[in-house]
Order: sequence, then C-alpha cells, then structure tokens
Amino acid sequence: MERKKMTVPEIQAKAARGEKLLMLTSYDYPLALLADRAGMDILLVGDSVGMTTLGYETTLPVTMDEMIHHAKAVRRGVQYALCIGDMPFMSYQTSIAEAVYNAGRFLKEAMMEAVKLEGGVEMAETVRAIVNTGIPVMGHIGLTPQSINRLGGFKTQGRDAATAKQLLDDAAALEQAGAFAVLLEAIPDRVAQLIYERAGVPIIGIGAGPHCHGQLLIVHDLLGLFEKFTPRFAKRYANLSEVIGKAFADYKQEVEAGTFPGPEHCWTIKDDELAKLKAML
Ligand code: KIV
Repeated sequence: MERKKMTVPEIQAKAARGEKLLMLTSYDYPLALLADRAGMDILLVGDSVGMTTLGYETTLPVTMDEMIHHAKAVRRGVQYALCIGDMPFMSYQTSIAEAVYNAGRFLKEAMMEAVKLEGGVEMAETVRAIVNTGIPVMGHIGLTPQSINRLGGFKTQGRDAATAKQLLDDAAALEQAGAFAVLLEAIPDRVAQLIYERAGVPIIGIGAGPHCHGQLLIVHDLLGLFEKFTPRFAKRYANLSEVIGKAFADYKQEVEAGTFPGPEHCWTIKDDELAKLKAML
C-alpha cells in the first residue's frame, strides 16, 4: 500500500479506524530520517531535547531559538510523519499573543505542522487562540515536566480520585478548545482508559498504559542513549550507549596501536611525482 503523508486529519482517521498511532521524539536529521523511514506517524521535536541532547538538568532552560534550530533539522529528514514542535517553557505562558506568535514561528521557520503545549483547563483559552489561527495543537497533561517545581519532581500524576478527576476535566477542556489530540504522561493506566473512553480526539500515552490510541517514547530512552535516569515507562529497545562506547574504544585502541588508518583509508601519490617533490625539498 502506498504510504501517505500524515496530516492532522489522517492522524485522526487512523485513530478512528482503531489503528495504533506511533509517535517518537526527534531532535536531529539522522534519527528523524530513520524514524520516518521506520514508519512513525508523528515525530515530536520535544523540549526534552534540553535533557537528551543539550545536557540541561531539566527542560526549563530550553529556548524558542533552540527549538527552532532542532525542528528545522528534523523537518529536513522527514517525508511522511506529522511534525510537531513542542512549545518550550515561557514561550506560551506569559500571554495568548505571545503563545500564538511562538506557535507560528514553528510553522513559518521550521515547517512544523502542529505544536504541543503543556497544561489543561488553564491553557484552554491559549489552545483555542492558537487553533483559531489555523495551527493544530496537541495538548499534554499528567506529568508536565515544565511544572516540576510545582509538582516536586518527575512524579506520576492522578493517583487519587480528585487529581484523576482533574485530568479528565483537563482532557475534556483541551478537546473543547480544539486540540486535535491529547498526550497523557505518567498517569495510572485505568485513569488513562477513562479519558480514552470519553475522548473524541486521539489519546496518546507516554507512561499511561495500553488503553490509548497511540504511544510515544523518547527516542534516546528507546535507543539506550540517555543514561542519567530511565523512567519506569521507558522501554529500551537497544543499547546504543554500549555500541557507541565500544566503537570509540576500538578507534582509540587502533589509533594508539597505529593500525588505523590502514592503506584502504589513504590516498597515494605516484612514485615519479613523489621523487619530483622530494627533489624540490
Ligand atoms: O519534550 C518531550 O519530549 C515531551 C514528552 C516527554 C511528552 O514533552
């Protein structure tokens, strides 16, 4: 079957058909190319780039300019997946006008096709304003890393009836505000199921259990490239840290032993040209 370019309506149609949505984060050209080739439906240029790629302790320092830089690189590698730019801390919280402006930057400068932002009921008006400009928005509730100082760390959310009810209200408010999908991060699977059963838009989970229209993983967690910590929900499908560490060690060993570069890595000069050169010296 011919592969279609994923758009927001295609994403919603796929979810409505009961087919699972595949979503990964992406921060650069080579991994975007591979993820797109592997059949991902959605690539999120997440502000997790701050922790996975830029070495920050949290996502809070990430700027719009850093996000645009990475989003542009990802976009160059993608042919089919829907590309979403993640709005970094303080790019949408200060005013609705600033939120709309920064959402627009993702589309104008990096050719993203949608944006994601964190927050529920309190962000509904912002979501509505961005959607009204023609920019699709994915909501993000549950563990929202930009609020770790309020949450007291990277903690599972919605574990009691009152906070779980708030999550259901948040999801409904985002949908009513026009969000085309809602991402649930680190919440109990049975709470996610209740949201999923009531939702009219695709529900995507990262640490929200199997009862979702789709799943998201952080690409560095999946590949085993982020060693500081691994959240419980992150499944490691490869151990690239080990593979890369071995490659670097082999390179070091061969350079030190003089076995790299070998003849196959070198260019030669003809004997007579070399003789002429030496005569000039
Ligand atoms: O930045 C990101 O990758 C995210 C996911 C953790 C949901 O927001």
